[in-house]
Amino acid sequence: MKFSILPSVLALASSVLAAPGTLKPLLKRNPSGSFSLVAYSLDSSVVDIFYSDGIAYAGDSSKWTYGSVTTDVTFVIQDTEMITTATTSGVTLDSDTLLYIRPTEDEVLPVGFTGNGVTAPSDAVTTNFIFYGTWLMWEYDDGTLSDSFRAKETNVTGVYELYYDYSNLYPSGYKTPIVKSSS
Ligand SMILES: *[C@@H]1O[C@H](CO)[C@@H](O)[C@H](O)[C@H]1NC(C)=O
Repeated sequence: MKFSILPSVLALASSVLAAPGTLKPLLKRNPSGSFSLVAYSLDSSVVDIFYSDGIAYAGDSSKWTYGSVTTDVTFVIQDTEMITTATTSGVTLDSDTLLYIRPTEDEVLPVGFTGNGVTAPSDAVTTNFIFYGTWLMWEYDDGTLSDSFRAKETNVTGVYELYYDYSNLYPSGYKTPIVKSSS
């Protein structure tokens, strides 16, 4: 198994070093209070992660008209789980709505959310999320941190479905976003 933490942290470190005044030590630390998740490196702008029918997307949620329940979301991290709350007016998510990845070897699988009457896949895991700086990471059993998020553009320009590339296959046709907390 290969891990992707080094390339992205190095990319991060070089961009941080370019602006010494903003240099901050990278520490494992979780945001306190609620925050949104944003994805860098997809388009020229930073885009939000949003919820639609149990799946995580990145982009402008108002452009995604296919879901029956679509909402912007905020998160609170507690005991390595990402508790998810709807912020779009008129939408409420179940209190057990948790972000999941699917840590299955040699597969690139969608990132999604539990709850709300959508059956999560049997390999979905809601624990082991941790922040490194503001970067969202997932911790493997051996303690390695990785941020192997991938994104595939949907049939709506600028709206991406979010995936996790557990074995770091870097499949063609997917972009490699950096997923960060907003605060
Ligand atoms: C776009 O994707 C959505 C979701 O997968 C699907 O429901 C819809 O039919 C697709 N639209 C077109 C025009 O292909």
